[in-house]
Amino acid sequence: MAMRIVRSITSMRALAERWRRTRARVGLVPTMGALHAGHLALVAAARRASDRVVVSVFVNPSQFGPREDFARYPRTPAADARLLRRAGVDALFLPAVAAMDPPGGATVVEVGGSLTRGLCAPFRPGHFRGVATVVARLFAIIRPHAAWFGRKDAQQAAVLGRMARDLHFGIAVHTVPTVREPDGLARSSRNRALLPAQRAAAPVLHEALALAAAAVRGGARTRGAVLGPARRRLARVPGLRVQYLDLVDAATLAPASRPAGRLLLAAAIHLGRTRLIDNRAVRAPR
Ligand code: PAJ
Repeated sequence: MAMRIVRSITSMRALAERWRRTRARVGLVPTMGALHAGHLALVAAARRASDRVVVSVFVNPSQFGPREDFARYPRTPAADARLLRRAGVDALFLPAVAAMDPPGGATVVEVGGSLTRGLCAPFRPGHFRGVATVVARLFAIIRPHAAWFGRKDAQQAAVLGRMARDLHFGIAVHTVPTVREPDGLARSSRNRALLPAQRAAAPVLHEALALAAAAVRGGARTRGAVLGPARRRLARVPGLRVQYLDLVDAATLAPASRPAGRLLLAAAIHLGRTRLIDNRAVRAPR
């Protein structure tokens, strides 16, 4: 069946409601468009587990800071629709900003606790509030059985899983492994903003995290022993600025004072004006 392109919230709600009435399992993949292989991996996972798949494309102003790249964020609507049609998506939901933000709107969804204390949170005040609020709205409009998120944005996926449980949405939150370029760089809509020299340097982020993971697996006993070699690797790249490089508990995302149990290594860097993030899970040897 042909993919429907739905712009109105009322029509989207009615379509999903009709599907649910036929006992179809509805899967949702929220995105901001400029779609690439990472997004398509989420769509493929949703496709396998659902009778109907909805992909939303909405560049959400409330998750961008005042000095962030909302206006510059890439928008490729025709290519997005083509990719989604080919991936067998049933509905592409394209709400307008004015419709998503009701006039006089005064409600936000704020996930508190350790999940939003560290990593990206202190550098992007209000970001996870914007993400949680828009995803709660998408959940309320579409009421899918399940939704898929990428581990590339591990903190975001953890925050949204927490939100779905805390608000009793009854929506399963699934995660999908990070899709990478052949040289290890995590696929991201922001990669296309990199100049050639920056693009050539960018895989160092993945390499530094791999170094740190090898240190954990090799029995490093301190944070310094885990993060030191990675930090030095990043410091060798001219024009690269490290925003954070951290070792955290995989479940709580609280900083790990020493490597133990299930851990996450995560970092954010700037190459010129472009901010890149990446992470990898690792388990400390017993
Ligand atoms: P966006 O950056 O478009 O990403 C949409 C989804 O694709 C997210 O779940 C993200 O983690 C996933 N994704 C991006 N790159 C990936 C990669 N290389 N491998 C695997 N998955 C990847 O994240 C957002 O949009 C927004 O914050 C959103 C959740 C839509 C709320 O506005």
